[in-house]
Amino acid sequence: MKGKKVILGITGGIAAYKSCYLIRYLVKAGAEVKVIATENGLKFVGEVTLRSLSNNNVYSDSFAEWNDKPHEHISITDWADLFIVAPATANIIGKLANGIADDALSTSLLAFDKQILIAPAMNTKMYNNPAVQRNLDFLASHGVEFIEPDTGDLACGYEGKGRMAEPEHIFRESKFYLDRSNVLEGKKIVITASRTEESLDPIRYLTNRSSGITGFKIAEQAAMMGAETILITGPTDQEVFSKVKRINVISAEEMYNAVDKEFDSCDCLIMSAAVADYTFEVSPIKIKKTDDKIAFPAKRTKDILFEMGKRKKSQVIVGFAMETNDAIENAKKKLSKKNADFIVLNSITVDNPAFGSHNNKVSFVTSDNVEELPSLSKEEIAKLILDKISKNI
Ligand code: CTP
Repeated sequence: MKGKKVILGITGGIAAYKSCYLIRYLVKAGAEVKVIATENGLKFVGEVTLRSLSNNNVYSDSFAEWNDKPHEHISITDWADLFIVAPATANIIGKLANGIADDALSTSLLAFDKQILIAPAMNTKMYNNPAVQRNLDFLASHGVEFIEPDTGDLACGYEGKGRMAEPEHIFRESKFYLDRSNVLEGKKIVITASRTEESLDPIRYLTNRSSGITGFKIAEQAAMMGAETILITGPTDQEVFSKVKRINVISAEEMYNAVDKEFDSCDCLIMSAAVADYTFEVSPIKIKKTDDKIAFPAKRTKDILFEMGKRKKSQVIVGFAMETNDAIENAKKKLSKKNADFIVLNSITVDNPAFGSHNNKVSFVTSDNVEELPSLSKEEIAKLILDKISKNI
């Protein structure tokens, strides 16, 4: 998001206070933010708060002499890459859908010819009103994107759909629109992420330490490069923006079945998940402790990468390896045994714990080359993996 320019439109809803957090997230991620607030929006959050958080003048009165430019509604829209309206009342949605421009925000929205992202917030009855639904449909059919409101307690005492999406969610969605390219348009990429869990009894399971961060970053990057992106993930607390199709699985068998369904129609499979090599016969009742030795008979899971490697036609296949010793030799063995195009090798050392951390030190291993990378953020690693794939796909 570094250097990206965002207008944040704030209208008169109680969710306006959440938009203060959104400004923080955007600014922290390196974006420049200018706020355009309606008169009612400023009744919910103060101008000083918005100016201090965004570090820019707040535009709210078309004729104010402190506006940056006399034709601010045009110059600000020329300046920005993305226009977010959060919270968006039924009123501003109606104005945009019907071409009404009677204040700083509605005038600027009408003049904006790039991506608009709207996070509606209103009472359920208002949200379900046919006039509002018609306006939403009309705008969606003209390329405006929406972040659906959440369902839950509303400030007006009602319970239902209408609560503005959380600022973290709006921030995540905005990432997609700010860093887009079309390098992988028309391609389908399947990514597996995180870990699998193999049950022992109704209470316990065996798993590993994979956080899923790398796989999620890869999925975000693939979608931002225009690919149809399917993310098959084991349990994790990571979130991804909605342009990525997320399929949640738990066990290695479920992950195998999900990959199996998608593989033949995909152009690339990236197996970043740490899949369990063994699964157990699940006890239907809780296993009680004993003073004797205890054993859990295990049987091998299917090796997804190996099976897809056998079936591969024109797909690019990327495997991951996590090694503590003889790393390159082991990675090369995996590459040829699993018929992958390259292996992303994680070497687990004291200096490079990899699990759960936002940085990692990896090498790209092909049959004739080993490219050792310095310690990078997992986002940077995801970009490099996708760059490599886009040259081969
Ligand atoms: N993998 C897989 N299915 C499994 C196990 C692993 O698809 N049942 C994939 C992983 O997603 C990863 C690659 O295989 O891309 C390497 O996994 P790893 O567990 O490191 O290698 P193994 O082949 O299982 O070998 P070992 O456990 O002996 O190191």
